[in-house]
Amino acid sequence: MNKSVHIAVVGSGYVGLVAAVCFAEMGHQVTCVDNDPRKVAALQGGDTLIHEEHLPELLNRYRNTRVKFTTDLGAATADAAAIFIAVGTPQSETGDADLSYVEAVACEIARHLTSYKVIVEKSTVPVYTNEWIRRSIERNGVDRKMFDVVSNPEFLREGSAVSDFLHPDRIVVGADSERAAAILADIYAPLTDGSYYTGKDIFPGMCTADAPPPLLLTSTKSAEIIKHASNAFLALKISFINAVSNLCEATDANVQQVAKGMGLDTRIGPKFLRPGIGYGGSCFPKDVAAFRSVAEQMGVDFSLLTEVEKINVQQKKRFLSKVRAALWTLRGKKIAVLGLAFKGDTDDIRDSPAIEMVKMLLGEGCSIKAFDPAAMERTQAVVPAGPRMEYATDAYSAADDADALLILTDWAEFGHLDLNRMRSTLRYPILVDGRNMYEPAAAAAAGFNYYSIGRPAAHPVREELSSNA
Ligand code: UGA
Repeated sequence: MNKSVHIAVVGSGYVGLVAAVCFAEMGHQVTCVDNDPRKVAALQGGDTLIHEEHLPELLNRYRNTRVKFTTDLGAATADAAAIFIAVGTPQSETGDADLSYVEAVACEIARHLTSYKVIVEKSTVPVYTNEWIRRSIERNGVDRKMFDVVSNPEFLREGSAVSDFLHPDRIVVGADSERAAAILADIYAPLTDGSYYTGKDIFPGMCTADAPPPLLLTSTKSAEIIKHASNAFLALKISFINAVSNLCEATDANVQQVAKGMGLDTRIGPKFLRPGIGYGGSCFPKDVAAFRSVAEQMGVDFSLLTEVEKINVQQKKRFLSKVRAALWTLRGKKIAVLGLAFKGDTDDIRDSPAIEMVKMLLGEGCSIKAFDPAAMERTQAVVPAGPRMEYATDAYSAADDADALLILTDWAEFGHLDLNRMRSTLRYPILVDGRNMYEPAAAAAAGFNYYSIGRPAAHPVREELSSNA
């Protein structure tokens, strides 16, 4: 029988909220603290505030029983054995992570510390943050023996955060004290000993009782670097395939075939080799910049990361050129845009390449009618509706009388459009697909002039056009 541990989670954003309800699902008693009373009230009432699969179900299962929400950090941490810090670490103007929220929480924890606690950094932070947290707690008059600071980075993807948490590839615990490492081992025991996977009503995923996830125990600094290095490496993989896709375009090769041929090498692997309009989201852009900045501060030349960023910026500009090449001129053109979120299955628009593209097209004098299954409300706050910016109720009404259709986000439903209906809705049969959602031959067979990433353009054959007419 695993121990139920009292846990406090500070911050109820993507990471904090998912961690809180998943710890409850693993049998622990959790108090989630947020300084925003409206957020706390919404969570107590069962509103997750974010679009994330399985989260509403878990919140309803445990809210106000195994997971409590409060604004009172002192009360939340009083009985907790572990306090997880899961507040935001936004990018500062210099590219560094802004750690002011982490510092503020560390000081507040210090003011309420009355018995030994393990303080866990869950937010993505640069190497040495652990040490800064320790120092700032000590500066607030707390004896060193009263606490340890551990790094336990999170590898959740938006859209599959709950199953990523409960079925992780690995659990990384960076601890410099045995006492703290033992508490973290107790917390994750239901996953690492496989017992969670024998339960009824569990969320299915790749881990099983026979193949539970490993817990990797490292130093605090290694754990901090593992998180940044993992995100930077994934971003590098995307920029690499985007650069390869440009070479494929220049040589009439097909990047899909190239990525498949590369990915079959088990040392490379097939994942994160999908070319597109560049990576976005709240993590990769900020984490690559922060990792580069840390390296710079340590006197380490890591200019590879600058290239990763450069390719990512160029990829968006190349897509704009592709749209221009398909349409000849852009001013005054009516463009149908499918997708605003930074990737499919989320309403998150932070650093979304799709929104950047929309802004660039508006800057070129186009008018836009956009549709996204979940991200339109958020987008309207940054790109308000106006004479040249409209929001549609579905993909087909976005395309009504438009000069071209662009796919900017990889929502699965955009890969299953009725292409014949779409073609007759558009003014011209031009589809510029930033996410390679269609086979070029299939799009051409449906009468489209089809342009995608890293694959030869495809055009309808004359016979088909005349037989369709
Ligand atoms: C990413 C990581 O995948 C998580 O492991 C990590 O925990 C998380 O950041 C974080 O640090 O919190 P996420 O930002 O949710 O997760 O999104 P991803 O699925 O990784 O996609 C990031 C961006 O890369 C998206 O814009 C996506 O469209 C793009 N992408 C992804 C590609 O262009 N090609 C690919 O092959 C894969």
